[in-house]
Amino acid sequence: MTEAVKVEKKLVTLTIDNRKVSVEPGTWVVDAAKSAGIDIPVFCYHPKMEPVGMCRMCLVEIGRPMIDRATGQPVLEADGSPKILFGAKLETGCTIAVSEGMVVRGYTDNVKQARDEVLEFLLTSHPLDCPICDKGGECPLQNLTMNFGPGHSRYIYDEKKRLDKHVPLGDLIFLDRERCIQCARCTRFQNEVVDDPVIGFSQRGRSLEIVTFSEPGFDSYWSGNTTDICPVGALTSTDFRFGARPWELHSEASICTQCPVNCNTTLNTRREAKDGGRYVVKRVMPRQNEWVNEIWLCDKGRFAYHYTEPGNRITQPMVRKGGQLTPVSWDEALAAAADKVKKAGSKLFMLVGGRLSNEDYFNLKQFTDKAEGQASLYSQMAGGDMVARIGLGSGSNLGDMGVGSAILVIASDLEEEAPLWWLRVKQAAERGATLIVANPRRTKLDSHAKHLIRYQYGEEAAVVNAMLDSFSPKRPDQADAVKSLLRNDALKAAAQEITQIENLVVFYGSEGTDLAASQSLAKAASNLLIATGHIGRSNNGLVAVWDKGNAQGGWDQGLQPSQDLAAKMKEAAVLYVVGADPAGDDPQLAAAVDAAQFVIVQELAMTKTAQAADVVFPAQAFTERDGTYTSGERRVQRFYPAVPALEGTRADFVITAQLAAAVGLELEDQIASLAFKQLAAATEAYKDLDYGKLAEIQDQLPIVGRADVYYGGTTYDNKQGLGVQLTSGAERGQSPALSFETPKEREKLDSTLTAYPVSMLYDRGNTVVPSKLLSARLGSPEVVLSSEDADQLNLAMGKPGKLKLNGAQYAVTVWIDNSLPKGTALIPRSLGIPISGPAPIQVEA
Ligand code: SF4
Ligand code: SF4
Ligand code: FES
Repeated sequence: MTEAVKVEKKLVTLTIDNRKVSVEPGTWVVDAAKSAGIDIPVFCYHPKMEPVGMCRMCLVEIGRPMIDRATGQPVLEADGSPKILFGAKLETGCTIAVSEGMVVRGYTDNVKQARDEVLEFLLTSHPLDCPICDKGGECPLQNLTMNFGPGHSRYIYDEKKRLDKHVPLGDLIFLDRERCIQCARCTRFQNEVVDDPVIGFSQRGRSLEIVTFSEPGFDSYWSGNTTDICPVGALTSTDFRFGARPWELHSEASICTQCPVNCNTTLNTRREAKDGGRYVVKRVMPRQNEWVNEIWLCDKGRFAYHYTEPGNRITQPMVRKGGQLTPVSWDEALAAAADKVKKAGSKLFMLVGGRLSNEDYFNLKQFTDKAEGQASLYSQMAGGDMVARIGLGSGSNLGDMGVGSAILVIASDLEEEAPLWWLRVKQAAERGATLIVANPRRTKLDSHAKHLIRYQYGEEAAVVNAMLDSFSPKRPDQADAVKSLLRNDALKAAAQEITQIENLVVFYGSEGTDLAASQSLAKAASNLLIATGHIGRSNNGLVAVWDKGNAQGGWDQGLQPSQDLAAKMKEAAVLYVVGADPAGDDPQLAAAVDAAQFVIVQELAMTKTAQAADVVFPAQAFTERDGTYTSGERRVQRFYPAVPALEGTRADFVITAQLAAAVGLELEDQIASLAFKQLAAATEAYKDLDYGKLAEIQDQLPIVGRADVYYGGTTYDNKQGLGVQLTSGAERGQSPALSFETPKEREKLDSTLTAYPVSMLYDRGNTVVPSKLLSARLGSPEVVLSSEDADQLNLAMGKPGKLKLNGAQYAVTVWIDNSLPKGTALIPRSLGIPISGPAPIQVEA
């Protein structure tokens, strides 16, 4: 795999337990030991956080070369070796950085006694309830006590401090106060890593306890990670607690498709009596991939998987008979669908959702092309072709970006749309990258931005064009919006900086845009990157913040969204909908589904579109099959079957191939890797890839993983593949040229109040709602108003209102955002109000 070449630094050499170790300057002693395969036990230290030296578990003897003060030269022993001076006391290996010639002793009698005492002290008030603790079996405290502990307790059980057990910190995380060893990993993670300080310490000494400051409790998108890094069973998830013992679990590698980051996951499974002895997914855990999600997951990716479970699924094909959908055999359903497809010719219209695998997309596109029909990606965003052409370049890693790099985030609230990108962009800014945030309203990324560009919704492309014009006035026909934005000082400063900076990545989203505006924005962003030379290299290029996890894979297979979707659906002789629920999303599209002559639906569950279909094919979930996804950063990654497929279901690419066979067309209908092979042969950017390459791994830092549970938490190490980042067209010699379209002025809607679509992490989509665990987090239909509009309309924060949009009325909750200009309202997508672009609205109490 080609990855970024790191600049070599002069290494520091020290000796740890008689072994010579060479590491980068600034490395902590515990990490240096870890890199040489020597374990210094830790509790409070975590390799992804700054050390605090709280628990003293990592005490070691440290000696340094003795220096003659008079000469400044090392003092030598009789044999000519440097004389080493050991400190009078033990030192914490997690807070001491390595130095040249240092000598560390981790297993002397002194050290062993210290560890013994630290463990005895930690256990004085521990409830010792391992047999009923969810962490038992993967617990650092348990493991380190077995390895280094005193073996008996001198403490009187009745004198233990009693604290509350089963305390719900929020709806997703439980706290057992007795088990907490006060290491502050959880509070530091929330504070330092994800900038969401909603939990903290209260009280002092033995009474110290973790409390939540937020309402509702532990209100964070990241809470599940604290259960991974808590070194004891103090924090457990509502999802997994009392669900299984860790040693009963099987592990399979998978990928989260809830957003375009495509975080690497491990699905833990177990046979379950209450499910008839079936293997079921018991929990979703992070799997280390330092190029993608490091060792973290957001709570949506961790807890929303329940939509794949049997209770929510369809397991038998159905054909409409006498007006009713009736269960039939696969042969009958395929024959009924094929009969109509054969007659449809070019009036076959395929609508494909953004969470299918690449193999599914390949077969679907081949099928449409061979049948001479049309296919459309079900999405409101454009630009996947431009992303493929100009990059990201291969070898890109947000984790490598810092000083000398710039990141522009426009029309996207990354925290809501792609949480891991939000985290990694924030961290790049903390390392010194220039962050430019362009959005009409406040987002959480603002506080990390060097340049904050405010614009009015509708001006997204104009903002980027103005940046380009501010240093390169190439186009005489500037739109008025561009001319006025050219007076924006933050925009000019940002533009100047990116002309001089080595690396530039642009993340563009779909906040406030419809499909046409998204196309303009993608084009403008591409032009900016081309004009400033930020293409064809790693850590440069364009990233689309897609609304679905594998939209980029769909684009790479030639699928694109349609401008006039409802009209195309209505006119179809056969409408073939795969992995999408247009009827459930939008009444206009529901009418189009009704108007289509014959509707085939391929789905996991009985969606509204499936209810309106003539033929329904039950599809397999990603947990039950294998395949590949392509992330927004264009990394192709494999997912593997974790549980047996539900009887009666088939993988999407198989169903399409079988339908194709029934109409006389040949496609791979058995094995995902063979479908991928055909895909790779037909797709330039994928041509060197196969399942073997995608499964390759390499060493990653920091070293975490199951063998070292006390070190990095319960994140799984990556044994099944880091995936491969595709090359961009620019890297393969396709030289993209600047091409400007005549700038369009922002359309003025005849309305005093115009609503714009925004995205929220917890929406009411079909891959979220079935997870009852998240139900308390799901929003309800809402409208966000400026304070001026709310006052004028006599509407108050959190109160009900009535919203009129496109002739329909909706009961909504009113929210107020002071950063919105008057006349501008926001409506979250997929929360029950269909909105695909700017729209006039009326709101009243
Ligand atoms: S709850 Fe866990 S992570 Fe948090 S301070 Fe206690 S032991 Fe440490
Ligand atoms: S950031 Fe995106 S891909 Fe990662 S766990 Fe969350 S929803 Fe899934
Ligand atoms: S003090 Fe070093 S791990 Fe806690």
